[in-house]
Amino acid sequence: MAPEDVVVVRHAVRQWAAELGFSLVDQTKLVTAASELARNAVTHGGGGGAHIEMVFNGRRQGLKVTFEDNGPGIADINLAMKDGYTTGGGLGLGLGGAKRLTDEFGIQSKPGEGTQVWFIRWK
Ligand SMILES: Nc1ncnc2c1ncn2[C@@H]1O[C@H](COP(=O)(O)OP(=O)(O)O)[C@@H](O)[C@H]1O
Ligand SMILES: [Mg+2]
Repeated sequence: MAPEDVVVVRHAVRQWAAELGFSLVDQTKLVTAASELARNAVTHGGGGGAHIEMVFNGRRQGLKVTFEDNGPGIADINLAMKDGYTTGGGLGLGLGGAKRLTDEFGIQSKPGEGTQVWFIRWK
């Protein structure tokens, strides 16, 4: 992903969320969360890719969005998740915000190898 791809991800997530029947408010939550993680992949992770999928847990449908990059990784994930923590001169609200806006959130990272972050919001 290049910086201009953030808007592509935003549009794709909006479209899939609408397709799944999420309310406008929920669509915006999903788009905002995806936007934060896409921007992180670009600014902190050196690019990477995004993957959007519909998921089903036997009861509810949901939208899952995954971001993967081969950047420097995150040494201390707990610290990175803290509101206000930033190494890039940002607001440090992206990861925590994305977690709060979604139902399930996961992050895996290995210093020197990269980062994978994903979330699900259930309908
Ligand atoms: N994909 C990533 N690769 C490497 N580091 C990351 C990545 N995403 C987040 N981080 C680290 O976590 C910190 C917190 O991220 P975030 O909450 O989005 O705040 P911000 O982007 O404003 O710095 C970042 O400053 C960075 O150090
Ligand atoms: Mg951020």
